[in-house]
Amino acid sequence: MVQVMERTRERAGLRPAERHPAIGAASAPPVFDAKGLNLWYGTRHALKNIDLPIRENEVTAIIGPSGCGKSTYLKTLNRMVELTDGVRISGEIQYRGRDIFGRGFPVEELRTKVGMVFQKPNPFPKSIYDNIAYGPRIHGIRNRKILDEIVEKSLRGAAIWEEVKDRLGTNAYSLSGGQQQRICIARALAIEPDVILMDEPTSALDPISTLKVEELVQELRAGYSIVIVTHNMQQAARISDRTAFFLNGEVVESGETDRIFSNPDDRRTEDYISGRFG
Ligand SMILES: Nc1ncnc2c1ncn2[C@@H]1O[C@H](COP(=O)(O)OP(=O)(O)O)[C@@H](O)[C@H]1O
Ligand SMILES: [Mg+2]
Repeated sequence: MVQVMERTRERAGLRPAERHPAIGAASAPPVFDAKGLNLWYGTRHALKNIDLPIRENEVTAIIGPSGCGKSTYLKTLNRMVELTDGVRISGEIQYRGRDIFGRGFPVEELRTKVGMVFQKPNPFPKSIYDNIAYGPRIHGIRNRKILDEIVEKSLRGAAIWEEVKDRLGTNAYSLSGGQQQRICIARALAIEPDVILMDEPTSALDPISTLKVEELVQELRAGYSIVIVTHNMQQAARISDRTAFFLNGEVVESGETDRIFSNPDDRRTEDYISGRFG
């Protein structure tokens, strides 16, 4: 428990965002590393031979047209995709050096290390406080003072504390969509994840809320590794360190965002980012 709290403090006391100095450095070991990953829904081959490392303290953007496998890839990282009937997977994904499909790999632990935020804000129909305290309570934290502290730090970490601190008891549904999304991010932070997966987290938000979430992602990079699926090319260019372009279940190209957007290797990447299809 002491360890848990120390990590909460450390994580919530965010350092200012800065472009990660180690980009491109071969020395930084990936947090997730997919190798020869294939996935089928029944007979539908949805992920084809994916090789894609996710690096620590970076924002990795996943771009590509609808139906190309972006959400499937995210849900494979936390093994959520296996909850769907008829899914078959081959190849491997290493999480911090261990194969997540390996026998005896602790799936429950993986799910506490990997937080997820969805397109449509999905707070629980509970108070703001209880939304954030939910995960810690499941992990056995009962002490009110400790919970208070986690709630405050998570809400601060998600840049929404000032807006809600005087009404923690009100239902999260009473908040705007943009606020609800930051509550969902705070809820993810409360379980002290290592990695945060975001599946088009701003596509249901207005421009101002979108900007707030984008700024937040930039700040969170200091303490977490983030994978964000986005339809918005400008967003990928603005907030990510690396970009992977998916097409028909394959990674056509991945690399530093600046390069992908200025000088892609593959014609299809260029066509997609310049809006010629998708
Ligand atoms: N539960 C499912 N059962 C069968 N096919 C699915 C299922 N979920 C997704 N697919 C198919 O897998 C492909 C990739 O889907 P998805 O990962 O949702 O793409 P994206 O997020 O890029 O839009 C699509 O062809 C989609 O129809
Ligand atoms: Mg999707």
